[in-house]
Amino acid sequence: MKKTATTNYPGHEDLYVRRRERGASGWDTDAVTHENIEAIKHLLSKCDPQPAGAMLELGCGAGNLTSYFAQTGWKAHGLDISGTAITWARERAAALGLAMDFRIGNVLNLDIWPEDTFDLVLDGHCLHCIIGQDRVRFFQEARRVLRPAGKMLILTMAGDASRVPMGGCYDPETRCQLVDGISTRYFGEAGAISHEVENAGFVVDYQELVARRHETETDHLLIVASPQTG
Ligand SMILES: C[S@@+](CC[C@H](N)C(=O)[O-])C[C@H]1O[C@@H](n2cnc3c(N)ncnc32)[C@H](O)[C@@H]1O
Repeated sequence: MKKTATTNYPGHEDLYVRRRERGASGWDTDAVTHENIEAIKHLLSKCDPQPAGAMLELGCGAGNLTSYFAQTGWKAHGLDISGTAITWARERAAALGLAMDFRIGNVLNLDIWPEDTFDLVLDGHCLHCIIGQDRVRFFQEARRVLRPAGKMLILTMAGDASRVPMGGCYDPETRCQLVDGISTRYFGEAGAISHEVENAGFVVDYQELVARRHETETDHLLIVASPQTG
């Protein structure tokens, strides 16, 4: 019988409080954020050229990736479950003099935005925090707020996590990282993740599995997806 996962998405708040206390610049180091922005540029290069419109980052943290979009002309929005992260993101927007809209909330409920609001939805490493059936809801909500001609960009950890050192332990049955019995990360196979995307009503336009960059992480799956039409 499949185990039922216990999750604690609001638990990210404590992790942000600790990052702020130790003087970090966001969830990741500046070097990793730079790598993630390069990955985003790579994915954008795989999309047909389109004017910068309205974009939403799901699980935007301190706004490090959202800021890249605002700096390149997008009307940038971000949502995160951590209040500390959103305070940090708003401070970043003010410091950079950029108009960005950051909201506290759960990616499983995007009701504050009507359908067809965004030209681009970004998953910048939030999806791998979402576990089990919640992932269906994640994609449903992303699909709902994305315009028919919009694009979804996904940067997510994937593949074999059994040898990656992590704060908890790896459960090969569920492919999740467990910390005190709570599933905190899901490391799906690339094919399984692209099926999830397709089952949610998207067409996968492009996908690439990038070999792990650091000892402490898995491979990364990069996806560009479009809403299915017709
Ligand atoms: C790996 S961090 C990446 C943060 C940010 N995208 C960046 O690159 O700096 C994952 C983010 O997802 C957020 N998150 C996890 N579960 C969430 C949920 N259910 N709803 C909203 N945000 C969530 C976390 O708080 C965290 O900020």
